[in-house]
Amino acid sequence: MRIARTHAELDALLEQHLHAGERIGLVPTMGALHEGHLSLIRAAKDACAVVVVSIFVNPLQFTDENDLAAYPRDDERDLDLAHREGVELVFLPPVAEMYPEGATTTVTVGPPLTDVLEGAARPGHFDGVATVVAKLFNAVRPDATFFGQKDAQQVAVIRKLIAELSYPIELVVCPTVRDAEGLALSSRNSRLTPEQRPAALSLHRALQDGERVLTGGGDLEVAEKQMWATLSSTPGVQPDYARAVDPETFESPRGGEVLLVIAALVGKARLIDNLVVELPSEKGNR
Ligand code: PAF
Repeated sequence: MRIARTHAELDALLEQHLHAGERIGLVPTMGALHEGHLSLIRAAKDACAVVVVSIFVNPLQFTDENDLAAYPRDDERDLDLAHREGVELVFLPPVAEMYPEGATTTVTVGPPLTDVLEGAARPGHFDGVATVVAKLFNAVRPDATFFGQKDAQQVAVIRKLIAELSYPIELVVCPTVRDAEGLALSSRNSRLTPEQRPAALSLHRALQDGERVLTGGGDLEVAEKQMWATLSSTPGVQPDYARAVDPETFESPRGGEVLLVIAALVGKARLIDNLVVELPSEKGNR
């Protein structure tokens, strides 16, 4: 496994693969790798000749300095995990390599998608994500990129970024990986104390409750209220939102597939989760 810390090193290591026309897969990460990331790497390994993993804690997408400072970092462990998965190349740039002194250019995927839910809770967050991902696409020039369904709104933002900036890149969305009790894996779970874990499990339970309402023929509003009730009745959980939205636009569902999305604070961890539900009938129109 090779490690590039600068664009020049990355170019040199990619050259032979680009020249040979090999299919390159990019898995963008902020490190703190867990089984969710490893599932993306495995999907990339299955589909591509060369897998590039980027590890970069992107300051631009943090709206809270403390959150950035508290973000878990362990390059040695991450590199070891990537190596074990057979990753060919890791791009591990320092902040100054990604954002040279004086850089002021950013990429914005416009509202309404980026203003609602996670965008409302973390203003500017999706500008930071779109900017760093565009820069990674430009640097790596992948044929395919791999993202987790766990961050469903981020997936919708990247889908628009790829389409509207005409990147010739396939977006592969991999299923959310959960632990044995249903908690969606996230680097933020490391902030949960053992006592807070039962509260964190209420997110998945709330989604399942919402799904039951919809598949039983209930309305979107009833599903949203049910999810909120499940979250708010769990001690130690402060719900932020519980919504049923269109999976691509994050506006009101138009029928067919509905995305149930929730966010809640459990202790110091702001957790998000989601579930795609196929509507049984014409329940999409409010
Ligand atoms: O999902 C993440 O870890 C980050 O938002 C990403 C896509 C690596 C961009 O920094």
